[in-house]
Amino acid sequence: MLATVHTRARLGVGAPAVTVEIHLSNGLPALSIVGLPETAVRESKDRVRSALLNAGFEFPAKRITINLAPADLPKEGGRFDLPIALGILAASGQLPSERLTRFECLGELSLDGALRPVRGVLPAVIAAREAQRQILIPDSNAAEASLAAGDDVFAAGHLLAVCAHLTDTERLCPLRPEALTHVDPQAPDLADVRGQHVPKRALEIAAAGGHNLLMFGPPGTGKSMLASRLPGILPPLTDEDALEVASVHSVAGLPVRNGHWRRPPYRAPHHTASAVALVGGGSSPRPGEISLAHRGVLFLDELPEFDRKVLEVLREPMESGEIVISRAARQLTFPARFQVIAAMNPCPCGYRGHPTIECQCTPQQVMRYQAKLSGPLLDRFDLHVEVPVQSSDVLMKRTAEPVGSDEVRARVEAARAVQVARGSINAQLCGTDLHHYCQPGDEGEALLSRAMERLGLSARALHRILRVARTLADLAGAEAIDRTHLVEALGYRKLDRLQSRIPGATA
Ligand SMILES: Nc1ncnc2c1ncn2[C@@H]1O[C@H](COP(=O)(O)OP(=O)(O)OP(=O)(O)O)[C@@H](O)[C@H]1O
Ligand SMILES: [Mg+2]
Repeated sequence: MLATVHTRARLGVGAPAVTVEIHLSNGLPALSIVGLPETAVRESKDRVRSALLNAGFEFPAKRITINLAPADLPKEGGRFDLPIALGILAASGQLPSERLTRFECLGELSLDGALRPVRGVLPAVIAAREAQRQILIPDSNAAEASLAAGDDVFAAGHLLAVCAHLTDTERLCPLRPEALTHVDPQAPDLADVRGQHVPKRALEIAAAGGHNLLMFGPPGTGKSMLASRLPGILPPLTDEDALEVASVHSVAGLPVRNGHWRRPPYRAPHHTASAVALVGGGSSPRPGEISLAHRGVLFLDELPEFDRKVLEVLREPMESGEIVISRAARQLTFPARFQVIAAMNPCPCGYRGHPTIECQCTPQQVMRYQAKLSGPLLDRFDLHVEVPVQSSDVLMKRTAEPVGSDEVRARVEAARAVQVARGSINAQLCGTDLHHYCQPGDEGEALLSRAMERLGLSARALHRILRVARTLADLAGAEAIDRTHLVEALGYRKLDRLQSRIPGATA
């Protein structure tokens, strides 16, 4: 009269084990669920009753107690329907209970017994493998599960198919692991962008070292166009990173597609996005845009149009690579190691510094516009570049641009290989590693201290210049950082100069 079924809850991007215990006892027919169930789980009893009856099983006229252990772990969603239904069948002798212990299962039931998809299947499949148990999932989740499938993952469309598998009357076939594909051939090519050699170079540096990049310039010069070409020049993710990315997307309930496997994610939230949409949260915490951009790119177009408070919440995860969401009873951590690419106009009308169109803004308007970006936020960008207006000759040149994404990606991959051998990508070098690998030399030190005085650079900005110089040296295949690398790196701090010319702009 007692049955145990293994399943998994969803907590951040993890899938902690949950044991569903079902006890049938004599007494007035009733069903109670204990073990911190949230609304969707409490409603499970009605779905399970109808699903069992409609699938032709008997719903036991007993006192049914369902315990979801551990009791202090919150349980949410419809994912416990299938384990509860199987547990009731096992406890009432309609299903052999000993086979059930070798399995984990999850899935929401419809009233006729069909299985509906749930969020976060991929982390559950990975965790079940570590626990050396087979797992049964809804077949609508099969695509994402097959990214991590071995011969231990089974997908079914209906409760009856699950029961037939467990009683050996009709075995399900294990999901076949997908042949994983590489970078999406649809990625837009850098050769489409005419001219803009300096911004293209900055994009290559950003890709090579994982640096944050801020582009500014008048409307229609190709800032958004350049940013959308970054994923195409980034090195493909390792299988381990790709699985991490797919797990975050699975937990967020987004489609996890094989075609995008190993392609770094690219997220471009609109400037009206709220802080919760950006960093994650909500009553049942979901990953935000920064976590969906984990191991990839977060593109913030029209940066000053974002709410200032929303931008400020980015400061901490930009440094730490994760976001901790605190709720009354618990804390959740979502990974958020992303690279920020931002674009902005130089002033509200957009035409400041335009060769032919006159800017309509007053100095105060320009100041207010630029002051929307706080000093600390600006400090977190390693590269600031201007994306100027291109002449019609450049834009209408008949011959194609000589350098495309494939060629740039090859250079980026070579520079990344050096960094991987060192143990960290350049944008994340810190502490002793930073001092060890980013030695500017005597001449370089003198150059940097002059620049620090003139531009009022912070220690953080100084370190970022050193990291960019390291990437420039890696792209050039050089062992040590030399003066040319430092001069070029300092050249990508345009806004430090602009800010120091406009008093109060960073206030
Ligand atoms: N350098 C370029 N080479 C080729 N096409 C370009 C270039 N610059 C702009 N374009 C064309 O102009 C369009 C607009 O460019 P894009 O959206 O990137 O501008 P933007 O700099 O982001 O402007 P805004 O500041 O208004 O957002 C592109 O879709 C493309 O067709
Ligand atoms: Mg744009």
